[in-house]
Amino acid sequence: MKHILDLKVITVEQISVRYVLLKLTHPSPLPEIFPGQFVEVRVDSSPTIFLRRPISVNFLDRERNELWLLVAKVGSGTRSLASLKPGDTLNCILPLGKGFTMPRDFERMLLVGGGVGIAPLLLFGKLIKETGATPTFLLGARTAADIPELDNFKALGRVMITTEDGSLGEKGFVTMHSCLKTENYDRIATCGPKPMMMAVADFARKNSIVCEVSLENLMACGLGACLCCVEKTTQGNLCVCKEGPVFNINSLLW
Ligand SMILES: Cc1cc2nc3c(=O)[nH]c(=O)nc-3n(C[C@H](O)[C@H](O)[C@H](O)COP(=O)(O)OP(=O)(O)OC[C@H]3O[C@@H](n4cnc5c(N)ncnc54)[C@H](O)[C@@H]3O)c2cc1C
Ligand code: FES
Repeated sequence: MKHILDLKVITVEQISVRYVLLKLTHPSPLPEIFPGQFVEVRVDSSPTIFLRRPISVNFLDRERNELWLLVAKVGSGTRSLASLKPGDTLNCILPLGKGFTMPRDFERMLLVGGGVGIAPLLLFGKLIKETGATPTFLLGARTAADIPELDNFKALGRVMITTEDGSLGEKGFVTMHSCLKTENYDRIATCGPKPMMMAVADFARKNSIVCEVSLENLMACGLGACLCCVEKTTQGNLCVCKEGPVFNINSLLW
């Protein structure tokens, strides 16, 4: 069931030049949300932005009844979100889309994130940890400063890193990390820039690993009505906002 909620901004953490972390709450318990699902936020602070912006649910703190959004400042909408203040209200439609599949018992799972695509993996890692397993993250970015929430990831599981400039972890792209040569995985979940996800999907196919990707096609309504987010799949054209954003690579025409 979808909700339209006025969430209250508790904190706005400027994590780096590029990223801001919004922690939001509501007087009533937040609805059930699965990793990979997203919210459509209304950008009230700008008179020229009419369309809501899709943002993944980064984390849910049930004890504090908090929902976190990790926002990369790329344009006017996300910059407006970054300028919110504690006490402000953010109108959100949630939860939207279909999320990642939880791993089955004993499945060796790798969570691969690039850039702001790491956002939904924090909540996913938390739920995996709650099953008693230890999540393994492989996070990639251009440089060390572009890997936000590192301590939060480390608190949940094993974290491996690649940076393009070598400032943290192994130098190169995620698909070049040595763990992919030395370790075996049964399942991969990935979110990030399309070229990165295509490379991860290619690796998964070649190694017969089940793989789900979270697409970030441009969206408007977020509800399956405007068709602006359509992706060609083996089942025809599907709305990423409603049938995704998470897809098994076998249904994509990549
Ligand atoms: C399912 C989903 C989940 C997302 N989760 C997050 C998240 O957790 N955190 C986050 O910061 N962003 C996330 N995004 C991307 C975010 O929605 C866009 O960055 C945002 O809508 C841009 O709005 P803007 O007004 O700031 O930029 P605009 O002025 O609209 O655009 C600025 C630039 O960003 C590009 N851009 C816009 N939308 C996207 C997009 N979807 N993918 C790639 N480039 C885009 C534009 O082409 C343009 O170059 C997600 C997108 C989707 C579809
Ligand atoms: S964003 Fe409108 S149909 Fe997906």
